[in-house]
Amino acid sequence: MKNSPKPRLAWAITGSGHYLRESLEILQSIEDADVFLSRAAVEIIQQYGFQSKLENTGHKVYQDKTASSVPVELFYEGKYHTLVIAPATSNTIAKMAYGFSDSLVTNLYAQAGKTRVPSIIFACDTAPEVESEAPRDNMVMVYPRQIDLDNVARLVQFEATQVVEDMMTLRTSIETRLKAIRS
Ligand SMILES: Cc1cc2nc3c(=O)[nH]c(=O)nc-3n(C[C@H](O)[C@H](O)[C@H](O)COP(=O)(O)O)c2cc1C
Repeated sequence: MKNSPKPRLAWAITGSGHYLRESLEILQSIEDADVFLSRAAVEIIQQYGFQSKLENTGHKVYQDKTASSVPVELFYEGKYHTLVIAPATSNTIAKMAYGFSDSLVTNLYAQAGKTRVPSIIFACDTAPEVESEAPRDNMVMVYPRQIDLDNVARLVQFEATQVVEDMMTLRTSIETRLKAIRS
């Protein structure tokens, strides 16, 4: 396996409006990261008017354009020390919790696991009732179903996986990981 001199952080974004704004803000404060978008994420970022926020992060962006998720080969090259998935939709959580790897983001999670790279995941559906941001700055109440909560609980048990429930924990978990990498 080819090792790059300075491994980077891989950050995947799925098609979630829930805490998308805040995730992009954390992403902007991080150095040495690459961004991976699900096909839905590309649309949601446009719908929320967050394209400039994404561009302002200054990170290289990979999109989901191939059947085999070609960018995951970067994990085989040792290019990444950590995978962050934030925000993670109920759809992507469900697929990951059952071992699917049929999209760029689910493939990143699978290949991170298989190459023993730890993942930090912010799941949208962590509580029976959440307030969520809709397009055009509207706030809506969302009531995740039992299946959504069960899938998160299932994913928590996976090896090398930390599922976080709020933005503060996401930020501190990333900081802790970056400190460990640098020491
Ligand atoms: C405006 C809008 C906001 C959405 N926000 C969420 C969300 O917060 N959480 C979620 O699980 N799905 C949300 N979705 C639905 C996902 O985008 C959809 O399930 C998509 O298939 C997810 O694909 P992905 O998991 O590959 O990104 C939203 C859809 C729209 C149109």
